Amino acid sequence: MPILIRKYLLLFLLFAALLPKAHSQNKGSITLKTGKFTTGDVPAWSQPSFIDTAWKDQKLGDPWQRQGFQNYHGFAWYRIHITIPSSLKTNSAWKDSLRIYLAHVNDVDQTFLNGVQIGKIGSFPEDSGGYVSKWPAVREYRLSINNPAIKWDQENVIAVRCYDGGGSGGIFMGTPYIDMLEKIDGISFDNTGESIRYLPGNKAEKSLHISNHFNIPIEGTFSYTTIDAATGKTLEEKSVPLTLTPFSGKDFAVTMPHRIGIEYNMSFTEKGSGDKRSIKQILPYILTPAISDKPQINGAKVAGVRPGSPFIFKVAATGKGTLAYSAKGLPAGLSLNRTTGVITGSVAKAGDYKITLTVTNSLGSASRALTIKVGDLLALTPPMGWNSWNCWGISVSDAKVRSSAQALIDKGLTGHGWMYMNIDDGWEAAQRANDSSIVPNEKFPDMKGLGDFLHSNGLRFGIYSSPGPRTCGGYLGSWQNEDKDAATYASWGIDYLKYDLCSYTELMPRRNSSLEENQRPYILMRDLLKKQSRDIVYSLCQYGWQDVWKWGPEMNGNLWRTTGDIEDSWNSLYRIGFNQARLSEYAKPGRWNDPDMLIVGQVGWGENLHPTRLTPYEQYTHMSLWSMLSAPLLLGCDLSRLDPFTLNLLTNDEVIAIDQDPLGKQARQVIKQDSSQVWVKELEDGSKVIALFNLQNSFQSLTADWDALNLKGTIKVRDVWQQKDLGTKEKGYTVTVAPHGVSLIKITGFTQ
Ligand code: GAL
Repeated sequence: MPILIRKYLLLFLLFAALLPKAHSQNKGSITLKTGKFTTGDVPAWSQPSFIDTAWKDQKLGDPWQRQGFQNYHGFAWYRIHITIPSSLKTNSAWKDSLRIYLAHVNDVDQTFLNGVQIGKIGSFPEDSGGYVSKWPAVREYRLSINNPAIKWDQENVIAVRCYDGGGSGGIFMGTPYIDMLEKIDGISFDNTGESIRYLPGNKAEKSLHISNHFNIPIEGTFSYTTIDAATGKTLEEKSVPLTLTPFSGKDFAVTMPHRIGIEYNMSFTEKGSGDKRSIKQILPYILTPAISDKPQINGAKVAGVRPGSPFIFKVAATGKGTLAYSAKGLPAGLSLNRTTGVITGSVAKAGDYKITLTVTNSLGSASRALTIKVGDLLALTPPMGWNSWNCWGISVSDAKVRSSAQALIDKGLTGHGWMYMNIDDGWEAAQRANDSSIVPNEKFPDMKGLGDFLHSNGLRFGIYSSPGPRTCGGYLGSWQNEDKDAATYASWGIDYLKYDLCSYTELMPRRNSSLEENQRPYILMRDLLKKQSRDIVYSLCQYGWQDVWKWGPEMNGNLWRTTGDIEDSWNSLYRIGFNQARLSEYAKPGRWNDPDMLIVGQVGWGENLHPTRLTPYEQYTHMSLWSMLSAPLLLGCDLSRLDPFTLNLLTNDEVIAIDQDPLGKQARQVIKQDSSQVWVKELEDGSKVIALFNLQNSFQSLTADWDALNLKGTIKVRDVWQQKDLGTKEKGYTVTVAPHGVSLIKITGFTQ
């Protein structure tokens, strides 16, 4: 299923940046920049003899909707004319196969070289089984150099028959090229976050699996270097000869110190050509101390529910072994399950109910206050949980949501306050039911059952739709069926709705429509959600248009996206995260700026899960900044594959407490320089959190200068990531911060 492109350029750009780049081009590669193009479908267009001079020229790599065929969907053809020089094969080291790389095709392709079919990915509507979109698949067709279809030193015609089922169409997400395959193309590294083990004695072991995907032996050298980037010193350097037999693999394990600043570089160099594949990474280092065996209550200290609505709240607690939960002061109508720690029921009367929670295990007990505010406002702290989009994209399914929920529980994340499980786009069936109610597609056999399962575990259930006729993924939206949809969601037990503008923009007179036109669809759904007999947190997703932060509360929006989609790169994180400064005043309990979901762990928007491309330093910055911003914390990764580093990053209760602070004040950007920034956040207990961000590509010393921050007194400093008191500091606090990294400190004892 393609993505809509016309109005959703941002989404397209996101995808273009996201999916792993195809293999690198080899020596002598010829880029295919343009081709002839026409809409329609005639078999003779595959033939080299066909005269296509009347066809339009198209840039290859951009959907046709961006090149003059804005509203066209269906069949279309490209004909790429290219002379293939025999020097390509003579200059190649391996001299085995010609590679024709066509990037991605939205949605189905059948590709011919000089009239001979050389590949087909996806299914056309007329194929048995019907249309199947395969836009995420890379089209890389390989032909033996002896293949008679190749006309060496003459003009060749690569004819690509495409079918676009909706949204964007044609060759996209990369520029096509031809080159010769080299042996190095058979080599790949299995490189995941899970491949790091932390060993006693502050050591870490990185393992790497190198595979040969070809049916020939590949001979070369495996080398690695470990470096201390903080000092620039090389710690270890080693090379070993390595021959990989056909379709074989080999594991390597490299041990290095476990501390900040360790980098490793691993490579394989193929003997015949000298071609190299390598990875260079920073060792993910763990800062959060191990969770105490003693009981501890974490997560939100305040929760909102409307009078009479079902309340579901799992007390987030950690501690070894079996925990027993109890509560004092629960209002009539609510009860606590002493084994699961889930509070359910409903409260008829509005008011603030102060409860004392206690959690006990064999080592002791811990108590903490929880205020349940029965009134109009929901999401009194930023929603924390998971959303399917950044990992599963449109391939989300009931099974994936259930296994993710199970992983959230099994990995102990619920003990730190993670509680929403939100299905994003891709759950909707192609047709509404006869009574026009929305139905899920075959991937979701029982929505109500899924909701019950989540609720029985104290989790909350989120869903996604668009006010337009279609969602951004091309699925059915709520347009003209809003009332039905709101009621259906409530009947399934939905607790959270992400309402994504998408194709609604097509119903607006202009791209830059009036405030009223932008608000209309959100008002409609606001009023419908209010009528439901359960609480549905309302997440506005319209990318921050018309300064939504100014009118989000009027929509009864609990959170509103402030930007386009995030992706797992420093650029994206930097551009989005550090641009939230001007929005500080708009964040309040129940009204949150949403700079989009977290991009840590295994992400991939569908079929290409990969470890986040953020460095460990950037990931600390990400979690710190989002917490400083009081941003919703929605994980977008495969929870079943949380490596120890990511899990550690997501379970620092002192960091989470900054995000979940009941005061709900977004941090202010106090010092803004090119190379660093200082942000300060006020907490409910009167303390402050200071984040020192290093925006440079190298280590640098940064100072929280009390004078510059207008602070006086005997100031006590606590390192939040390490959960360590650093004592009192007279003039300020100076620390060396990693490239794109952060130092997050909490200060007390100051006067102003
Ligand atoms: C985008 C939205 C993403 C995701 C996607 C689904 O518009 O910003 O977060 O929901 O649509 O198609």
